[in-house]
Amino acid sequence: MDKNITANQLRAKFLDFFKNKDHAVISSASIIPENDPTVLFTTAGMHPLVPYLLGQKHPAGKRLTNVQKCIRTGDIDDVGDDSHLTFFEMLGNWSLGDYFKKEAIAWSYEFLTSPEYLGLDKDKLAFSVFEGDEDAPRDMESFNLWREQGVDEDKIFFLPKKNNWWGPAGITGPCGPDTEMFIINDKQPCGPNCSPACDCGRYLEIWNDVFMEYNKQADGTYLPLEQKNVDTGMGLERTLCVLTNKTNVYETELFKPMLDKIAELSGKNYFDSSDTKKAFRIIADHVRTSTFILGDDLGVSPSNVDQGYVLRRLIRRAVRFGKQIDMPDNFTPEIAKVIINQYCEVYPELKRNEKFILEQLKLEEERFARTLEQGTKEFEKLVAQMVFGGKISGRKAFHLYDTFGFPIEMTVELAKEKNLEVDMEGFEKAFKKHQELSKAGSEQKFKGGLADNSEATTRLHTATHLLHKALRIVLGEEVAQKGSNITVDRLRFDFSFGRKVEPDELQKVEDIVNDVIKANLPISCEEMTVEQAKEQGAIGLFGDKYGEMVKVYTMGDFSKEICGGPHANSTGELESFKIQKEQSSSAGVRRIRATIGGK
Ligand code: ALA
Repeated sequence: MDKNITANQLRAKFLDFFKNKDHAVISSASIIPENDPTVLFTTAGMHPLVPYLLGQKHPAGKRLTNVQKCIRTGDIDDVGDDSHLTFFEMLGNWSLGDYFKKEAIAWSYEFLTSPEYLGLDKDKLAFSVFEGDEDAPRDMESFNLWREQGVDEDKIFFLPKKNNWWGPAGITGPCGPDTEMFIINDKQPCGPNCSPACDCGRYLEIWNDVFMEYNKQADGTYLPLEQKNVDTGMGLERTLCVLTNKTNVYETELFKPMLDKIAELSGKNYFDSSDTKKAFRIIADHVRTSTFILGDDLGVSPSNVDQGYVLRRLIRRAVRFGKQIDMPDNFTPEIAKVIINQYCEVYPELKRNEKFILEQLKLEEERFARTLEQGTKEFEKLVAQMVFGGKISGRKAFHLYDTFGFPIEMTVELAKEKNLEVDMEGFEKAFKKHQELSKAGSEQKFKGGLADNSEATTRLHTATHLLHKALRIVLGEEVAQKGSNITVDRLRFDFSFGRKVEPDELQKVEDIVNDVIKANLPISCEEMTVEQAKEQGAIGLFGDKYGEMVKVYTMGDFSKEICGGPHANSTGELESFKIQKEQSSSAGVRRIRATIGGK
């Protein structure tokens, strides 16, 4: 095995291997899911492929492979330990109703062990397979297939659903039993039952092959899918760490340029103390994730809702930890420049959106500085009222946090300087209550999303295309989609445009869309290469891979857009179109909400 393998080499080896097995290499999809209101970010390579796992035809064929940009922010507060990252790249290969367990397992084994690819020592590999339960049988087939590759019985572990089942990405959808691959390191077994299921660190997971043959229903039951799929995922950073024998992802070559820059700007050393280490890691991780969110072609700006809110939290947390190691003001764009340079060959969108990334980071750092200033003033007022000293109540600390965005850590720090305490228990209580409320809110949102593929959302999706084109006719070609969110009741469309759209302009847009609906134009879908689509003047998000096959939806002679669908059969199905609201979404981005069908 090559212990010096780089991220570039690992990506290339993976894609090459599957290209040789007749897989089409497709671009990473946007990190912000299009037309999927149930989740904020793309969390796995399979996520943008859900319609195809459910049976829709993919324009690039039945065998696909790619590197997908992913974000998982559920555990943002764990970032800074050895393995958690908010952004990661996932290497994956898919069979959409084509090959199944036999080929998937044989190819996984070949990629891991062949000297031409990873060349891993066969004795150092272990595997897990699904032990079976009332939803699906024990996966003897996978067990036997690993045995056929020459794997010893004691290296294959049967594990329950908790460990060996993957999906769905949201609440419902494709999922199934999986088989996972591990490297065994030099640690001794932690006991007689040591297995890949324990967290003693002897087994390091590097790859997961999911056999997606079930469709989870809203009531929790599993129905067989019409086609049997394979979905695999190999976390790039994690695998690189294991292959190069590093103890954690931050010490791989991938993070070196970022950590070097942080050292240069702060004058501190990563290894100075566990606190510096943690600060370095958090800054690198959060600025990297923020750069990818801002640098996506559907990129958003920091805000108080949805993806924009996650982005705001990431930038502000990075700045907060930056202060701990004396980073200068406005450091996040400096780190972002390093990241853009490092990644722009694989993700050219980062270069395309460089100006936006750097501007937005700078703006958010400045906003945060003002927040801190205002919060400090409020804190002083609060202290002035405390005639008898003592404790700052949890309710007041929460008020500072909730109303002024003042981080609780700052409140505690300032309180300490004045020999005061903060009622942390009270703060946690107020905070939890607030979280429960917002969780209830997001579950509401999930419910809306369940109607995802219903007729109503399909028609609204078509309306989005008509709106996009009409906006370009009325406002000019600078209008480009920046985001789309559809519920059963309405569409929401974000687009780049530098000023408010005037009422007479909105009226014109609405009239154009209604004329197209009245004309009842036919809607057709064609598959072609990205280059052909561009030649034909299609708008929409373009893949970056030369020759990549895409779907193009044409609505009469009115609009032509690259899009995964689905859509109505003709524009008349929309009945009518009404713009309900136009407002600013963020700097340089406007937002329109609209309804159809006389609603
Ligand atoms: N979707 C699977 C995962 O994320 C491959 O692990």
